[in-house]
Amino acid sequence: MNPARHQGRELLPEPYRIKMVEPLRIIPPEARKKAVREAGYNTFLLRSRDIYIDLLTDSGTNAMSDAQWSAMMMGDEAYAGSQSYFRLVEAVQSIYGYRYVIPTHQGRGAEHILSRCLIRPGSIVPGNMYFTTTRLHQELAGGGFADVIVDEAYDPQCDDSFKGNIDLRKLENLTKKVSAPKIAYVAVGAPVNMAGGQPVSMENMRQVSAFCRKRGIPLVLDAARAVENAYFIQQREPGYGLKPVRDILREMCSLTDICTMSAKKDAFANIGGFLAMNDASLYEEAKNLCVVYEGLHTYGGLAGRDLEALAQGIRESVERDDWIAHRISQVQYLWRGLKDAGIPVVHPCGGHAVFVDAQAFLPHIPQKLLPAQTLAAAIYADSGVRSMERGIVSAGRDAATKQDHAPELELVRLTLPRRVYTQTHLDYVSRGVRRTFQRRDSLCGLKFVYEPKYLRFFQARFAPVPKAPSARRRGRPGPRAGRRARPRSGAGPRPSRRT
Ligand code: F0G
Repeated sequence: MNPARHQGRELLPEPYRIKMVEPLRIIPPEARKKAVREAGYNTFLLRSRDIYIDLLTDSGTNAMSDAQWSAMMMGDEAYAGSQSYFRLVEAVQSIYGYRYVIPTHQGRGAEHILSRCLIRPGSIVPGNMYFTTTRLHQELAGGGFADVIVDEAYDPQCDDSFKGNIDLRKLENLTKKVSAPKIAYVAVGAPVNMAGGQPVSMENMRQVSAFCRKRGIPLVLDAARAVENAYFIQQREPGYGLKPVRDILREMCSLTDICTMSAKKDAFANIGGFLAMNDASLYEEAKNLCVVYEGLHTYGGLAGRDLEALAQGIRESVERDDWIAHRISQVQYLWRGLKDAGIPVVHPCGGHAVFVDAQAFLPHIPQKLLPAQTLAAAIYADSGVRSMERGIVSAGRDAATKQDHAPELELVRLTLPRRVYTQTHLDYVSRGVRRTFQRRDSLCGLKFVYEPKYLRFFQARFAPVPKAPSARRRGRPGPRAGRRARPRSGAGPRPSRRT
């Protein structure tokens, strides 16, 4: 099989076999209802022992290889100058191509240091849709995020190949409005997590890179799942069909100046990340801040054995294209299973997860009653499958006005850890979501009963909002409460209401 031309129509056989297992159990329906109630209807607050199939995230939940486990035994636990650190630096330099590397405990550690180095009060950071932790660190450093993603990203039914692209017209208008020196940097996430794992094309990255270099604006890559983006370029962009993912990834990185990395995704590590760059003076400053917030710059909050797992995982992530082809084919298999059952999913299928359009799934629940949060809780109660809200709860509040962001996309994410679940698990998930779909009219919304100040989706608690007595029972005809007035699908990009 040539994975380079795999069209995602069938599930590829696993390019690995299993030599260690972890038991799973499913608790009865009544116990699941109790568990989700006690978790305040927040899937982040469930205990993992109560979960059958955990599709909360692909972050730190991947199965490490035998090579990674054996590399861990070589961990050099020296406080300073560990050999494991030098092996990590070599791996990053050879695969991603950046000159300087600072390990961090995970992606947000890198985001924190970078934001402190480059953002000043009043700075603007344009990017292709927000990510929760990234935007928060930009705001805490005194800056503001400006969304310059293409409009297509906001249309769940639009099938464009590169819905993660930056709209250069929006970027140019913004730069004219605020003047280039106010732009701290341009941030490109490839692919875009919150848009449904949608990739960015090489052509777009090239144009954005030229735009930034002309004006002296640094371009920062969020590389958490950049290997998946490189695979989509191979599959979808003319001229790349025969190039290995490794070369495509390297080309993507060469167009940027800095990279923040959560190594808990592509690199299969259970913990870890890094900040990498080409500029020596930025490196000096970031290295110094690393000591303050993460640990000495040769371990960045990680044990020597973690650095080893990470170095090996980085090499493995691009060693063979059939690994990445299999990973994406699993996501596509689940996507197709749900789509064929009539469940509204975000088009086209993204890299790390299947995103269900909760607003189309539950049209009777208005966004202020948190349809995606409601749906994630219901899927767990129905099948023991854990998913995650990616809608109004995740979007949080505007830093200045304190009003809720009301994102166009109100989604539930079913995220596939790498090398963890099998086809029969995926079939079970499809059946579970279908059961919830069949009883969708019985679901009512949720309201906040506790809202933490930062990244509220992680720790918030909710309570059900009982359905209002139906108009018919009260003797009055009328539309169902909250039913959306405007069509959601096939009607082109929606009007701008960006977060
Ligand atoms: N950037 C992207 C695109 C991410 O998806 C994440 C994390 C981060 C940065 C932050 O990295 O968690 O290592 O600090 N995403 C996880 C998820 C949490 O479930 O999507 P981190």
